[in-house]
Amino acid sequence: MEKKRGSFTDKLGFVLAAAGSAVGLGNLWRFPYLAAKHGGGIFLLIYLILAVTFGFALMVTEIALGRKTRLSAVGAYPALDKRFKFLGYLSSVIPFLITPYYCVIGGWVLKYLVVFLTGQVSSAAADEFFTGYIAQPAAPVIFFVIYVTVGMVAVLLGVEGGIEKASKFMMPVLVVMTVFISVFSLMQPGAMEGLRYYLLPDFSRFSATTVMAAMGQLFYSMSLAMGIMITYGSYMKKETNLEKSVRQIEIFDTGIAFMAGLMIIPAVFAFSGGSEEALGKGPSLMFITLPKVFDNMKFGTLVGAVFFLLVLFAALTSSISLTETLVSIVVDKFKFSRKKACGVVYAWLLALGIPVSLGFGIWSFIKPLGMSLLDFFDFTSNSVLMPIAAIGTCIFVGFVIKPKTLIEEVEVNGRFKMKKFYSIMIKYIAPVCLVAILIFAVMEALGMITV
Ligand code: TRP
Repeated sequence: MEKKRGSFTDKLGFVLAAAGSAVGLGNLWRFPYLAAKHGGGIFLLIYLILAVTFGFALMVTEIALGRKTRLSAVGAYPALDKRFKFLGYLSSVIPFLITPYYCVIGGWVLKYLVVFLTGQVSSAAADEFFTGYIAQPAAPVIFFVIYVTVGMVAVLLGVEGGIEKASKFMMPVLVVMTVFISVFSLMQPGAMEGLRYYLLPDFSRFSATTVMAAMGQLFYSMSLAMGIMITYGSYMKKETNLEKSVRQIEIFDTGIAFMAGLMIIPAVFAFSGGSEEALGKGPSLMFITLPKVFDNMKFGTLVGAVFFLLVLFAALTSSISLTETLVSIVVDKFKFSRKKACGVVYAWLLALGIPVSLGFGIWSFIKPLGMSLLDFFDFTSNSVLMPIAAIGTCIFVGFVIKPKTLIEEVEVNGRFKMKKFYSIMIKYIAPVCLVAILIFAVMEALGMITV
């Protein structure tokens, strides 16, 4: 029995919608700082390998699960096996942890847009501008609250569609700008060394931490292991070629992340010397490096303003889609009205996001596991809960419903070329590697090993 459910009209529509939600701060902000920190080329190489193996297998799995059951995560797992209901819940918890800090960064982007619009490029390019800014008690919180409120109003009024339309136009512009900024960065003296660092893998830098970081980034960037792609799949038409769509989403998402790295990493070498300290800046890297690039550019104020506006849009489409997910989970689970659910989610985002923001300043004494609050939420979701959810999904598909069930779903319209590879991946390779990664991640965080 086919339930009535709207579906994405044209083939490209599905890919664009899924890619639109996948492309966001994960690509532009998170990927470059992880690549810079974890050895450049070696991180890039590991990421690419993981994307075509794990990423491919998991995305096929989630989309096929959704399309087969026509349900989102909370319903899809128990529809196929009652015992796996918890997996739906587990995946649903993850976006509750990610969204608040995602919006804190959204607030930083908004601030930078204002900085560029008001022409304060040179002050933004100064070394201590960013760290000084996020340590303030009021301003970053205010920008965060504005950002969250804008997103919430969009969800409440149901105008996400409008923002999505706008972003379909903005996305290609963003890609062009990224190319332009990368070329400019690469022309700066000293940048070539950065290019080498980014593209040539240094195998002596290979470590469990690097693999773990790349894996967490893969989940994050492709919105995997949190039920999102299951929901997307539930709207996918049977006529759409699933395998091909997954490839296209992956290429798109990885392409943008790659370009973002190209834009930022060589610039770190050109403007900050490429020392370990400069490369290891973490979450602040984009905000420290790019203003220096713009400050050196003719019309840098304008270019910077346009750039941060585009990043803001990419971030907004992602966080609105995250917020929408949270609202629908609350509606389904607690049978609240949409309005009431929006209120609850809004309160949640503020309750977690404000401490995250203050964690860089007056609350920096709160250091769970020795991390800042942002890093702590990021770690818990990306390095712990997502691998657990992914392991559960592998066991569920590999040994309970069997890969055959989903292969059939992929094959409703043509051959699944990679099906042998897919089966082996989902049954053996992925779960074993994921368990290893999870153990390493937790041991390292608890200080039991240093890698
Ligand atoms: N993938 C998004 C990014 O790269 C972040 C994200 C994670 C997301 N989960 C999501 C976006 C769910 C929309 C919906 O920034």
